[in-house]
Amino acid sequence: MKGTAFLMPKVLLQGPGSLEMLGKEIQRIGCKKALLVTDKIMEKSGYVGKLTAILDNATVGYVIFDGVAGEPEDRFIYEGLEVYKKENCDFLIALGGGSPIDTAKAVGILATNGGKITEYMGADKVSKPTPPVVAIATTAGTGSEVTRFTIITDTENDVKMLIGSPFVMPDIAVADPILTLTVPPKVTAATGLDAFCHAIEAYVSKKATPMTDKVSLAAIELISQNLRKAWCNGDDLEARSNMMLASTLAGMSFNNSSVTLIHGMSRPIGANFHLAHGISNAVLLPTWAEFTYLAVPEKFAKVAEAMGENVEGLPVLDAALVAVDAIRRLCEDVEVPSISEMGVKKEDFEKVLEKMAHDAVVSGSPANNPRSVDEKQIVELYRKAF
Ligand SMILES: NC(=O)c1ccc[n+]([C@@H]2O[C@H](COP(=O)([O-])OP(=O)(O)OC[C@H]3O[C@@H](n4cnc5c(N)ncnc54)[C@H](O)[C@@H]3O)[C@@H](O)[C@H]2O)c1
Ligand SMILES: [Fe+2]
Repeated sequence: MKGTAFLMPKVLLQGPGSLEMLGKEIQRIGCKKALLVTDKIMEKSGYVGKLTAILDNATVGYVIFDGVAGEPEDRFIYEGLEVYKKENCDFLIALGGGSPIDTAKAVGILATNGGKITEYMGADKVSKPTPPVVAIATTAGTGSEVTRFTIITDTENDVKMLIGSPFVMPDIAVADPILTLTVPPKVTAATGLDAFCHAIEAYVSKKATPMTDKVSLAAIELISQNLRKAWCNGDDLEARSNMMLASTLAGMSFNNSSVTLIHGMSRPIGANFHLAHGISNAVLLPTWAEFTYLAVPEKFAKVAEAMGENVEGLPVLDAALVAVDAIRRLCEDVEVPSISEMGVKKEDFEKVLEKMAHDAVVSGSPANNPRSVDEKQIVELYRKAF
């Protein structure tokens, strides 16, 4: 064992009703005017109104930027930055799923570091602190409220850029499950399985630590017990609360360990075919598990246990296979489609397979997979998941 670092936001407001505690925490930052980064659905569902009432009460200024129309593209960042500067903002508040949160983080990078967002692709390219960022999650999925990452599509090259730096970590994170009660079933499944991927990838990653292992298993257990319930009954607050807790734990875990091959392969699917992030991961999860379990059967056996399977007395390889089956069943139960069922045409997929495999490797994430993998194998895995 060796010493490891564990990065977290300065403050994490967690659990039902925790949003109500935000006013006091924001006053502590001592900033004057926020760029409130969100999307139009947040306005329509009344969450923006709920938040602005809290800000008004705390006498904190804000201007709303609701131009996040889908998963973040480079142009949203420049549009947001323009408003940030014009309105003399001095901090950022994100309200939404991973898309508004990642957009706000990226606006923050450019606000203090300047230049183009493409210059920051990769690890540790951001050299100056961003303005304070408050991240309020409304999906139980990305965990972006507690991560040092932002993922932005470079629309010129169709690449989903992974940008990572300790400076990107939000100052205040809010994970209030009440905000997730309105998430529709398809998004509940996709985001919940995104969190599952974060947890299991972080658990088996070559960068896993004793601390992230514990956190990952807790998240896997919570998701296995609650995702189906939240998918069946969106207003089940207990299931939603457990999913929000799981998603934040999974975020904490991969933030301090890493994601691996699933995320490495899913970003190119998102960039080329505009499938939602969660579903791009979910369509790969069973194929990945089948490919990977042989490298770390002891860990997969523990995953089976965390998923509530009875593996007592089984040889370790058999116990590991139980996890692979349980993962497949979880995906089937919440009706994860295949890539082809998502409307992607075979000929279009084949055309970009090699580029996608190349981009996956370049992102660095597959190098953390416990079973090593090359571009040729990645092409085959894509075909299998199709
Ligand atoms: N930075 C990170 O650490 C990290 C980790 C994983 C994923 N991501 C990124 O996050 C993005 C995906 O985020 P996401 O999966 O949360 O989806 P999202 O933010 O794109 O939201 C998906 C849809 O759900 C709607 N929605 C969100 N909350 C809702 C609510 N409470 N009620 C009703 N509708 C709601 C949104 O308006 C949108 O239409 C991707 O760009 C992905 O790359 C980032
Ligand atoms: Fe993810």
